[in-house]
Amino acid sequence: MSTLITNIGELVTNAPADAPCGFWAITGAALVIDEGRVAWAGRAARAPAADEVVDARGRAVLPGFVDSHAHLVFAGERSDEFAARMAGRPYEAGGIRATVAATRAASDVTLRAGVRRIAGEMLRQGTTTLECKSGYGLTVADEARSLALAAEITPEVTFLGAHVVPPEFDGDPAGYLELVCGPMLDACAPHAKWIDVFCERGAFGAAEAAAVLAAGRRRGLAPRVHANQLGPGPGVRVAVEAGAASADHCTHLTDADVDALAQSGTVATLLPGVEFSTRQPYPDARRLLRAGITVALATDCNPGTSFTSSMALCVALAVREMRMTTQEAVWSATAGGARALRRTDIGHLGVGARADLVMLDAPSHAYLAYRPGVPLVAAVWRAGHRAAGSGERDGAVTVASEA
Ligand code: NIG
Ligand code: FE
Repeated sequence: MSTLITNIGELVTNAPADAPCGFWAITGAALVIDEGRVAWAGRAARAPAADEVVDARGRAVLPGFVDSHAHLVFAGERSDEFAARMAGRPYEAGGIRATVAATRAASDVTLRAGVRRIAGEMLRQGTTTLECKSGYGLTVADEARSLALAAEITPEVTFLGAHVVPPEFDGDPAGYLELVCGPMLDACAPHAKWIDVFCERGAFGAAEAAAVLAAGRRRGLAPRVHANQLGPGPGVRVAVEAGAASADHCTHLTDADVDALAQSGTVATLLPGVEFSTRQPYPDARRLLRAGITVALATDCNPGTSFTSSMALCVALAVREMRMTTQEAVWSATAGGARALRRTDIGHLGVGARADLVMLDAPSHAYLAYRPGVPLVAAVWRAGHRAAGSGERDGAVTVASEA
């Protein structure tokens, strides 16, 4: 059955790919979904017929958000740590250990419920693709079960055994790395597509990170890196040298880091929820964009540094705090995320794309930043199916059958 969505005030398609920053929108638009894909997009007046018609009544339709960085498999919470930070204490990577202890102690049922709760929260807010990491288990069994749970909700699963050195390996980081690169990777690789490492003071250094990524690559996992979050360091260089799909955080960059990214195929994924929640300076998005670097935006949803599931918040922060234009921010939250996951079927609404759509209760994409904190998502389609929202808020969207 085909669906025609018509009277779209602004249809963000992100196509053609050669438009400035890739953002592209059509006003007075319509779009046809057939067999889970975009079959047609253009001016409403020229739209072909379909089995079912949805009247958008002037609302905006965007590609579903692609949240390319999230840590959803965990138990417990760290609101006390957040409150202490807001009272002046700095963030330290060691807080991860509190979540590791809670996650190890949790049952599969508890962990699964937590993952599904946040994934549902994301979907209702317009995220139609999410990446999900392990990294709070840090034993062979706990990492493997974290990845198996992540794989229940997304194909974009990332092994992050090298998140921090767990307490039982205190004083023996080399011993832990041997475990990660050996038995842990053997148990985890079958569940994952990506391998990630937290390359940072207090976590893993350049040589360690490179060894982890190389071991992952030998097991068929493609690299991505937590890089340059807490201070300047080798993370971006390691990511570029490994041919990583993405270097994530990129908060503290040297000119050499920016040059290296500019000459690579590595996406810079910015996570403004982290700077918001740790009260750190935001990354310099304009510097990256000026250098021609592909920028993605993601939530980094995790209980320590960014407990938000809202891509709309990330767009608003990117616009207000990082001086991205509304078009750049929306592109980075959709097509940019797709590039960070090396996906060409999502993040845009060109013909043939997966029909992952968000309808806003607003006439344009700019409202995501213009009305921060307001739940603007009226309806979500994933692979052509209505996945969330009735779309009938205020009675403004009607569904009729043409048959
Ligand atoms: O992406 N940077 C490392 N990992 C997470 C933080 C995890 C935590 O504090 O629990 C991040 O910010
Ligand atoms: Fe992260």
